Amino acid sequence: MSRPRILSGMRPTGPLHLGNFLGALDNWVRLQDEYECFFIIVDWHALTTDYADPGPIRENVFEVACDWLAAGLDPARSALFVQSEVKEHAELHLLLSMVTPVPWLERVPTYKEQRQQLSEKDLSTYGFLGYPLLQTADIIIYKADAVPVGEDQAPHVELTREIVRRFNHLYGRPVFPEPKTLLTASPRIPGTDGRKMSKSYGNTIGLREEPEQVVQKLRAMKTDPARVRRTDPGDPDKCPVWDLHQIYSDEATRKWASEGCRSAGIGCLDCKQPVIDKIVEEINGMRRRAQEYEDNPELVRGIVAEGADKAREVARQTLDEVRRTMHLRPD
Ligand code: TRP
Ligand code: SF4
Repeated sequence: MSRPRILSGMRPTGPLHLGNFLGALDNWVRLQDEYECFFIIVDWHALTTDYADPGPIRENVFEVACDWLAAGLDPARSALFVQSEVKEHAELHLLLSMVTPVPWLERVPTYKEQRQQLSEKDLSTYGFLGYPLLQTADIIIYKADAVPVGEDQAPHVELTREIVRRFNHLYGRPVFPEPKTLLTASPRIPGTDGRKMSKSYGNTIGLREEPEQVVQKLRAMKTDPARVRRTDPGDPDKCPVWDLHQIYSDEATRKWASEGCRSAGIGCLDCKQPVIDKIVEEINGMRRRAQEYEDNPELVRGIVAEGADKAREVARQTLDEVRRTMHLRPD
């Protein structure tokens, strides 16, 4: 019996942070036990927003690959590869563009949102409008059964299903299966300012930051605003540090923190210390393992090249079928 297949991707737009790790990567590592996995570093997707400044993308691709390996993605079980190294994605994207109504793309919620959020960039491009269609190609070229993503990506998987239905219906045969969304049940991961950890807010804790910097950021992290003085009692439910306790602390530590907060028996720095220790330990491990890969670029390049070979084999078969379906000459 073959295992169900999943596929997911990450954009190489800069160093990964704790939010990427806890919200996605850590989950992918576990999924490897149950699924046949394809994980893509989507450099073409990075170009849709960073086309005017593409210089850093290549270096970022390498960094992401090292971070993935350091986090425990396992090339012996999963295909880890770079999107632009499997050109078949581009051909399928082109062919899908023939059957995709433009309004379907215009009404994807991330389209308007991102254009507003990234208003300093000119995103009135064809490539940016096609972002979710390229993602569709990434997914269905492997006939993935499910796509592990966060809430924000659910509309893209929904679009994927709509395109699959339209394609299959138009050509009268079930070429593509409809992929399911495998929602990552991720805890709220607050950044240092208390808002969701996100590169665009500048509130991240990097996966490879030096311990001193991590400690400094966490010591300065926002807490319950009602705790102005050490003697003021607080409410953990109004404190982002409490979210970190949910992730990193055991029952006894949480009890200690919560009671100490409500009674003003402990200060915020006391309360933060166990979380600081855990995060520093996690990041130290990540940094050390990532460094080993950084120091061995040939190894990393070999791993992603092998991943691309494995992916290409599947992608070619799918494209053969698509070409025949669309009355194009087989390769
Ligand atoms: N759009 C996704 C994100 O920003 C990245 C991505 C590209 C992806 N292709 C994918 C995710 C295919 C899942 C499946 O997070
Ligand atoms: Fe937050 Fe802990 Fe301070 Fe309470 S004591 S406000 S939970 S950091």
